[in-house]
Amino acid sequence: MKSVTVTTVLKQKKAGEKIAMVTAYDYPAAVRADRAGVDMILVGDSLGMVVLGYETTVQVTMEDMIHHSKAVARGAKRPLIVTDLPFLSYHLSAEEALKNAGRLLQEGGAQAVKLEGGKEVTRTVEKITGAGIPVMGHIGFTPQSIHKFGGFYFQGKSSQTALRLVEEAKALEEAGAFAVVLELVPWEVSAKVSELLAIPTIGIGSGPACDGQVQVFHDLFGLGDFQPRHAKQYAGVGTEIQEGLEKYAQEVKAESFPTEENTRRMAPAELAEFKRLV
Ligand code: KIV
Repeated sequence: MKSVTVTTVLKQKKAGEKIAMVTAYDYPAAVRADRAGVDMILVGDSLGMVVLGYETTVQVTMEDMIHHSKAVARGAKRPLIVTDLPFLSYHLSAEEALKNAGRLLQEGGAQAVKLEGGKEVTRTVEKITGAGIPVMGHIGFTPQSIHKFGGFYFQGKSSQTALRLVEEAKALEEAGAFAVVLELVPWEVSAKVSELLAIPTIGIGSGPACDGQVQVFHDLFGLGDFQPRHAKQYAGVGTEIQEGLEKYAQEVKAESFPTEENTRRMAPAELAEFKRLV
């Protein structure tokens, strides 16, 4: 199958074909996502919370993103790989943002980068796209600003804040973004933004009118302790792993694992010689 590119997702938007995106942080998840036919993989900085055990995404570094992006790039060949620029990697100057975006492609194997923010990041988006690196925007609830928001709250619930979201989305499109994530934005607002933009909107908790959806891998499969309202659990893998591990530990202690079939024995002649030598 042909690889998904920025052109592919723009065509999908035009054709009214919904875009499926999921996060992945390692090789096996990337292989599965590729085989499942998802269009885009996000190596999200949510890895800080669901993989590394941090409270927020703020602690995630460029090195973390490159490390996980590399693993995903080894596993996924068809989906477009978008890797998050972590907190403070694109805020100090547009030049530094470009350098870091370049690292995610050169060292991390990404094909595009994502950054959070609206009008305040448009110069940075222009700088990065100017170097030929596709940029995905991210507005609404932006997790790197968790301390400003004070929690995981919906954004754009009033007419004024909804209007601001529309303006921010348009500004990102004008700056050259190829898509924009709308996180925790009311259904009506994401529907309007999706109607007004030529680039796809990718929703998370923002309703079915978005051009595509993105979900955190661990939320889809019950791998964490917390299940957000916007996510649907497609399998309860976390519970199965827990039960499996408990059984494994019990069997090791009870000496019922491993058995004859989990190992090999030496050939009798070799064993005899080994015994003589030892
Ligand atoms: O890091 C991430 O997983 C994200 C999604 C929530 C869109 O940015």
